[in-house]
Amino acid sequence: MEKLAIEGGVPLHGEVAVSGAKNAALPILCAALLTAEPLRIGNVPHLRDVSTMLSLLGQMGVAVSMDDKLGIELCAARIHTPEAPYEMVKTMRASVLVLGPLVARCGEARVSLPGGCAIGLRPVDQHIKGLQAMGATITVEQGYMVARAKRLKGARICTDVVTVTGTENLMMAGTLADGVTVIENAAREPEVTDLAHCLTAMGAKISGAGTDVITIEGVAKLHGATTSVIPDRIETGTFVVAAAMTGGDVRVTGARPGHLDAVLAKLRDAGATVETGEDWIHVRRSGPLKAVNLRTAPYPAFPTDMQAQFLAMNCVAQGTGVIHEDIFENRFMHVQELQRLGADIEVDGNTAVVKGVAALDGATVMATDLRASASLVIAGLVARGTTIVDRIYHLDRGYEAIEEKLSRLGARIKRVS
Ligand code: UD1
Repeated sequence: MEKLAIEGGVPLHGEVAVSGAKNAALPILCAALLTAEPLRIGNVPHLRDVSTMLSLLGQMGVAVSMDDKLGIELCAARIHTPEAPYEMVKTMRASVLVLGPLVARCGEARVSLPGGCAIGLRPVDQHIKGLQAMGATITVEQGYMVARAKRLKGARICTDVVTVTGTENLMMAGTLADGVTVIENAAREPEVTDLAHCLTAMGAKISGAGTDVITIEGVAKLHGATTSVIPDRIETGTFVVAAAMTGGDVRVTGARPGHLDAVLAKLRDAGATVETGEDWIHVRRSGPLKAVNLRTAPYPAFPTDMQAQFLAMNCVAQGTGVIHEDIFENRFMHVQELQRLGADIEVDGNTAVVKGVAALDGATVMATDLRASASLVIAGLVARGTTIVDRIYHLDRGYEAIEEKLSRLGARIKRVS
């Protein structure tokens, strides 16, 4: 099994380019199911989750090819197996994003229930309720959601919780429904807006994406289009935290600073100097690192996907920082591993109280989920001696060439078997 070996203590310096957003690419790949014509997608990151989604779509009959600019072209002229098997869904919950498009285009879908997930229950009841409101019948058979609808009908749906993939599933379903679908309490994440942008290029009629009420006027057919994935705000956030935490000086390029307002505000509170341009962020820190308090919430508030990285930064900051995780239960699995590096953290329910220590000491730690892995890597960058991060397949799900990018910023990091 591959691991990362990190020699801590080097402030990061230089320039790093951000890749396309995993969480925007995955729903956009699924949007290809909505049309028989080719969908060309640029700026798709090279990640394990993307490969998993491509093989899932391939199994259904979608033709996948790469164009000369490394863009991906998908053509779902015929979908012979509208199904997402358990083996796929259990490795990547985002597989559930095929449900809405399949039932809208094929009138049927068989998608495995996700089952247990390392960071909490993460049910899909809102996806199901929304599709039922649109006229689909959904039964659970042998662990699979089986959805059927001759043609979905537009409906007014108010979700009980703000759900990102739930909003995306229902928005995709609404594009081919008969009549108008209104999603209230919709997720406002930039990835939802990027998907809406792609769907609109395919001929969908959508308004309100980026607000909490999205209106979709169904059309009979969508057509092919060309689209490009937005930069990954969580990868961007991870690099800027690493820069601040190591006392470095880093310019992140190809970014969308406007997608990170809450993150950059907390970074300034932590003592970093942050400058932004249209597509870059420059972060440096020479003064002390200060502990910050934060609470995760849906966009545009502080993202749960940046919680672990800020928690790691608090471990070596002056003072005590209190972190509330309000999106997922059980999303503090990085805490035990950070404690193995010498961090002083107490967890009570969904709250972690982090008292900064003078230094962390390298040790072998285990990655437990994607963002937890990132927090261990950046902790390793400041720990004394060597940190070995085991089980990095989690990291490869969501960070493109992370060790290469960090090496170019001066980090002593290498992949070992
Ligand atoms: C997406 C992101 C993930 C991010 C999360 C929250 C993708 C592929 N993944 O995940 O990186 O951490 O948003 O920003 O985009 N919930 C329900 N019922 C549902 C759906 C969700 O109760 O039907 C709950 C979940 O348990 C969770 C909360 O709603 O507590 C938010 O989950 P959701 O926004 O759906 O997360 P994902 O879309 O799975």
